[in-house]
Amino acid sequence: MRKPIIAGNWKMFKTRNEALKFIYAVSDKLPDIEKVDSVICAQFTVLRCLVKRQGENLRIGAQNLHFENEGAFTGEVSAPMLKEINVSYVIVGHSERRAMFNETDEAINKKLHKALEYDITPILCVGESLEQRESGQTEAHLAEQLEKDLAGLTAEQVKDIVIAYEPIWAIGTGKTATSEVANETCKFIREKIASMYDQDVADAIRIQYGGSVKLNNIHELMMMPHIDGALIGGASLDPEDFVKLVEAAVK
Ligand code: 13P
Repeated sequence: MRKPIIAGNWKMFKTRNEALKFIYAVSDKLPDIEKVDSVICAQFTVLRCLVKRQGENLRIGAQNLHFENEGAFTGEVSAPMLKEINVSYVIVGHSERRAMFNETDEAINKKLHKALEYDITPILCVGESLEQRESGQTEAHLAEQLEKDLAGLTAEQVKDIVIAYEPIWAIGTGKTATSEVANETCKFIREKIASMYDQDVADAIRIQYGGSVKLNNIHELMMMPHIDGALIGGASLDPEDFVKLVEAAVK
């Protein structure tokens, strides 16, 4: 049995005051960590204040990292810097970073290696565009992303990664993939992992769905056998909704 994992991706939202209000509102209300992993991935300036107050059943993640430990990389943050403040997760390869900040699969691959070296659990995002979905390219595109992004990682390392399947056309659009489509695509990702590694790794790895996940669709998504959780943007910003979204993942 894979433990479900619900992660909020706050993107570029919430000042320190807003983040503090959120964390006080959810602490004591989230389900037990034995039942579900709850994660908030926040922007860099609030990470430390969130980690200090994260409580038993919430873990804090970053939304990006650089693949070098240090150097002349203006504006970047490294794995040792995140580790030093006890960040537990990091989103790698979000489609917004791929599209708007020119992040390549090669860079994403190096970031995964670096996060794992520092014992920070990566949430690797993959997903197709609307054009790719409509022209039947979804599986080929996902296979290529997985091969390039995971290159050189061992089976033991890949077991610990979380994969977020986020169809680009469903992000922030209110258009969710139907739970059947989301499940079929997560199943494809699992089969691809089995072919790249083995069935044990495929059975162990947790695959989230992301893209317009809300209170009105999470129950249906979480019933699907290949969906182990969700990566949630907009709906994760409200503390009451976040608690309910996490509760919905408890089987
Ligand atoms: P929304 O839930 O706002 O569609 O965002 C999804 C997402 O990009 C999470 O990483």
